[in-house]
Amino acid sequence: MSFKTAAGSACVAVILLLVAFLGVASAGATPTASKNATVKNLFQVQCSLCHGQSGAGDTSTGKALNAADLRSADVQKQSDAQLAQVIANGKNNMPPFADSLTTEQIRALVAYIRALGRRNSSHRLDHPASRSANPSSFL
Ligand code: HEC
Repeated sequence: MSFKTAAGSACVAVILLLVAFLGVASAGATPTASKNATVKNLFQVQCSLCHGQSGAGDTSTGKALNAADLRSADVQKQSDAQLAQVIANGKNNMPPFADSLTTEQIRALVAYIRALGRRNSSHRLDHPASRSANPSSFL
């Protein structure tokens, strides 16, 4: 019986160690493997209120403020530097993030916006004309 108890507390100790380790790992420098997940999380926390999870800008706040559809040609045609500049300094109803995000985070968000744009238009790449014809057909 005492063996079972010992094994039991060893288990608890291992779990506590794991929890402590994971806590340290997530508080410390971002491991490269979870970089995408982190950017996605950052986007959801900081941007999706207005731009929506897909970047479409179709949330009620987004509609009220006239938030841009981040997947649209109007946004995607801009250079990385231009998009980073808007995220850092804001534009009209778009708030500035230079004080709350690092340059690295802003760069990652620009890359994430590119990925949102690709996801939206990948099935229409061969037909650029149809792209502007019905930009809202994507669900
Ligand atoms: C409070 C609402 C709000 C939040 C939060 C917000 N945005 Fe915006 N965003 C806007 C609005 C409104 C516009 C349209 C600005 C305009 O062109 O008038 C916009 C436009 C943009 C554009 C396009 C700019 C252009 O020149 O076409 C990008 C890129 C962008 N936002 C990225 C982000 C990112 C990344 C985040 C999160 C870090 C974010 N936004 C958070 C409201 C918001």
